[in-house]
Amino acid sequence: MKQLPTTKLKDHNSFSVAANCQRLFVLEHLQDLAQLTQTPLHKPMMLGAGTNILFATDYPGDIILNRLQGRQIIDATDKHAYVRIQAGNNWHESVIWILEQGLSGIENLALIPGTVGAAPIQNIGAYGVELSDTLELVEAWDRKHMRAVMLKANDCQLSYRDSIFRQQADRFWILNITLKLSRKPRLRLGYSGLKQKLDSMGIANPLPGDVAAAVCSLRREKLPDPTLLPNVGSFFKNPIIDNTHLQQLLQNYPELPHWGQGDASSKISAAWLIEKCGYKGYRKGAAGISDQHALILVNHGSASGIDLWKLAKEIQNAVQLEFKLSLQAEPRIIHSS
Ligand code: EPU
Repeated sequence: MKQLPTTKLKDHNSFSVAANCQRLFVLEHLQDLAQLTQTPLHKPMMLGAGTNILFATDYPGDIILNRLQGRQIIDATDKHAYVRIQAGNNWHESVIWILEQGLSGIENLALIPGTVGAAPIQNIGAYGVELSDTLELVEAWDRKHMRAVMLKANDCQLSYRDSIFRQQADRFWILNITLKLSRKPRLRLGYSGLKQKLDSMGIANPLPGDVAAAVCSLRREKLPDPTLLPNVGSFFKNPIIDNTHLQQLLQNYPELPHWGQGDASSKISAAWLIEKCGYKGYRKGAAGISDQHALILVNHGSASGIDLWKLAKEIQNAVQLEFKLSLQAEPRIIHSS
């Protein structure tokens, strides 16, 4: 474990906002965990690549950058292989590595920015697949009981962009995850646009690698690249409402995109609500909404964390006023109140 000679976080958040913490550490080797857990730390927060956090203020504590590396197949049966991946690995590189091992199950999650350790926190999901579909185990350091724990996926309270790690922020430091992957492809092509993309690529019988390529192509078309236009992906969750409420909304807004959840509720498109309120491509100083996708807040250069947070609140208010719906922020927000 080493302490960095800086407390600046600008290079450690994909919104690229200026912020400081009290001390900045890096965890590169598992054997350094013992030293880390014995060091007196103030409000320690573990951070991956900072692709799902908004520093609206400085962080009033210590930050540990998780850079634990390593990936291995730990077990296999005829049908499945179990892969353990250390938390500091880049997520997309890990997806590609898994494809190279001839395994499938997470190809729809290609190109999601961030690290492997961040994936269970918000149960990352895209193109009809969520991490919870393949997650088997999470190994973490439990700061409440000061011991390493192995959490089965069922114990992680995974749901749409939510988990025990999010609900009990900073209790668990995720060290590695184990995924259960298929040795025979089981492709999920149901998400609108995915099959059409494969058709347009001239691929009739796709392999998992083709699905990953199609997903990458869709993401590049729809979502601004955070390395070129700083952002954290979707800034709001898609609201889940009961079907009676949905029917009321559809009377006034018949074109509102919605997806039944298999119970008495439906997910509705937050991007559509925001666009309807006139915010797509909107800009206030350097804080803005992408003109490609209305769910993505972007930093055009010099926006501060508070500029972005104020814009987010303005959008929440506009959606509340127009639709009587409250949008929940998806990333973790660091702010004083
Ligand atoms: N739409 C608009 N305006 C826009 C963009 C989209 O009206 O500017 C409407 C379209 O009608 C479209 C619908 O919204 O049919 C859904 O759009 P999209 O397929 O882009 O998906 P999303 O619901 O906006 C979610 C995830 C994304 C994920 C995509 C693809 C959330 C909060 N976001 O977005 O995840 O990539 O589906 O599966 O669930 C992320 O979490 O950072 C993220 C990018």
